[in-house]
Amino acid sequence: KHVALLFGGNSSEHDVSKRSAQNFYDAIMATGKYDVTVFAIAQNGYFLDPESSKKILALADEQPIVDAYMAKVDTSDPLARINALRNGGDFDIFFPVVHGNLGEDGTLQGLFRLLNKPYVGAPLRGHAVSFDKVLTKELLTVNHIRNTNYIVIDTETAKDWTWDKITNELGSVVFVKAANQGSSVGISRVKNAVEFETALADSFQYDYKVLIEQAVKGPRELEVGVIGNEEPIVSEIGAHTVPEQGEGDGWYDYNNKFVDNSAVYFEIPAQLPKEVTEEVKAMAIKSYKVLNLRGEARMDFLLDENNVPYLGEPNTLPGFTNMSLFKRLWDYSDIDNAKLVDMMITYGFE
Ligand code: DAL
Ligand code: MG
Repeated sequence: KHVALLFGGNSSEHDVSKRSAQNFYDAIMATGKYDVTVFAIAQNGYFLDPESSKKILALADEQPIVDAYMAKVDTSDPLARINALRNGGDFDIFFPVVHGNLGEDGTLQGLFRLLNKPYVGAPLRGHAVSFDKVLTKELLTVNHIRNTNYIVIDTETAKDWTWDKITNELGSVVFVKAANQGSSVGISRVKNAVEFETALADSFQYDYKVLIEQAVKGPRELEVGVIGNEEPIVSEIGAHTVPEQGEGDGWYDYNNKFVDNSAVYFEIPAQLPKEVTEEVKAMAIKSYKVLNLRGEARMDFLLDENNVPYLGEPNTLPGFTNMSLFKRLWDYSDIDNAKLVDMMITYGFE
């Protein structure tokens, strides 16, 4: 079978995607079962030809390759953005490794459907719903899956919400999050009225809908991998120790996820009472189904001081970098990377 592996994209997670894609590429090759053609999606949204893409995947300096490619492109053609796919070969399945916008919001999955080809991972609606933090919380809530208290504000209703009113409902520390963004972009931890105004303005740059969420005191952060379709399976649970210092202000933000390496402090399997482990795994599976996910996802949890787990968020294209827990969790669950991607590709054909 011939796999088309897509990576990059126009989100803030472009470079993370490249590192995930390298590991997925190696894992697919290690199966010995598939031919792989790679397509890089440049920051400007254009799909590059396989030859250029392969160089970028091998970490060549990207900009000169993109510039040379763009010099040959007729940008007045609306299809020029995806034309590279046309000459790349005849694929049996798409394997999107594009985090954030386009990859994780359902856009690419819509393209695959138009092209009438199967693809790895969740269907369009699973991505679209899971990428929207507000829709996610509403679906979790109506299905009785524990998540933190929240308020939704849009550009119209923002004026009705003073800081006092917010703290009355949610307590003295909250998170302000743009509804549609990945990798903790457009998110602030807020403790007073001034910070609240700044945070709202920041979040509204990314979306017209903003989620205000209660902060859990002294949380432990847990992550669980889920793979499969109708009968999904869960990995062991991993725990992060949240860095106390630095840019992150004591939470797991973009910087300590991908930049300064502090997220390397983790524990697999997380040391938890047996009933908590079971509850977290059950919540992971239930939310995976409720959110219409298939193929693969990583469910993130917060555990409060009393060991009560809250579903934090789904990640429908979890990072697969050397720092990513999703990758390590399966190792501890006796599913090595080659077996994992083989299963993911197989689920895609189902
Ligand atoms: N958004 C990143 C890639 C993750 O959740 O792993
Ligand atoms: Mg995430």
